[in-house]
Amino acid sequence: MNYGLKTFPSSRMRRLRMKSFLRNLVSENSISANDLIWPVFLVEGNNEHQKIKSMPNVYRFSIDRLVKELEQLVEYGLQAIALFPQVDSALKDEGGTNAYDPNNLICRAIQTIKTYYPELGVIADIALDPYTTHGHDGIMIEDEIVNDKTLSVLKQQALVFSEAGCDILAPSDMMDGRVGIIRQALDENRMKNTVIMSYAAKYASSFYGPFRDAVKSEQLTGVNDKMTYQMNYMNGDEAMHEIALDIGEGADMIIIKPGMPYLDIILRAKQEFKVPTFAYQVSGEYSMILSASNRIDNLDIILESIISFKRAGADGIITYFTPSLLEYLK
Ligand code: PBG
Repeated sequence: MNYGLKTFPSSRMRRLRMKSFLRNLVSENSISANDLIWPVFLVEGNNEHQKIKSMPNVYRFSIDRLVKELEQLVEYGLQAIALFPQVDSALKDEGGTNAYDPNNLICRAIQTIKTYYPELGVIADIALDPYTTHGHDGIMIEDEIVNDKTLSVLKQQALVFSEAGCDILAPSDMMDGRVGIIRQALDENRMKNTVIMSYAAKYASSFYGPFRDAVKSEQLTGVNDKMTYQMNYMNGDEAMHEIALDIGEGADMIIIKPGMPYLDIILRAKQEFKVPTFAYQVSGEYSMILSASNRIDNLDIILESIISFKRAGADGIITYFTPSLLEYLK
């Protein structure tokens, strides 16, 4: 491209950086409350707010406590939350059966939140890992996470969550064919308007470490544990293939996960598919940023990291920094 660019000294890039109003006028990206989704950990009990060792300032809330925490954030413009349960170990089993109990922690949370905040978007993960004793996202038979048997369980989980009033289902399990099965089940059960936001490109990542502490699946520790279903981080084209399949099966929006180490994937996904695309700034990224700033909630690096997602093309960001960002943006 040649725009007949003038060169120095008539051209001076710094000219537009000299005053705040000029920098503001030519700024290409920004964030607002409309871009943010807050991931929240839930636990049974009353007025609980349990610290999570590996994630400073992040808590596991009981449902009643979450309702209180949300009041201020909703006032600041919070649009949506994504729910993750820490399931009582007594309720975990090999098959993850609590995942589709219509009375489980997530279903009760969805119902309660919808009663207090009917306008707030509620997103729930579809996957079995918080509910299984082995901590895997699917049914395990002799060391294999079996795809097709898992699908029928995920389908039940999706129906039960949607029935409870969940607006958006987010399959994060990476089984093949799950989006299609869930879409069909929703449509057949008069839930055609339940949205599917699929974790279309989810990598086998060590950045999920603190999350597994939060939901108490610490038996899984590294990147290798979920390699037979999550993506190999050596690959980029494969992410495009995954996304194409999920859109074909009925995904309304897609997630790229983790976030910052995968900005190239966000950029490519948005350029190729032009569907609503979200970055998940995961637990390990959160903890890493906080420890880099000596555990001080350093808003400058947080903002810089969040804007990098917007610049890459993301429509929104799922981030544990949402409460601090909303307070800053208000
Ligand atoms: C479960 C799930 C995980 C995360 C979101 N959903 C963990 C995993 O796949 O092991 C990670 C989120 C985070 O690290 O913040 N399917």
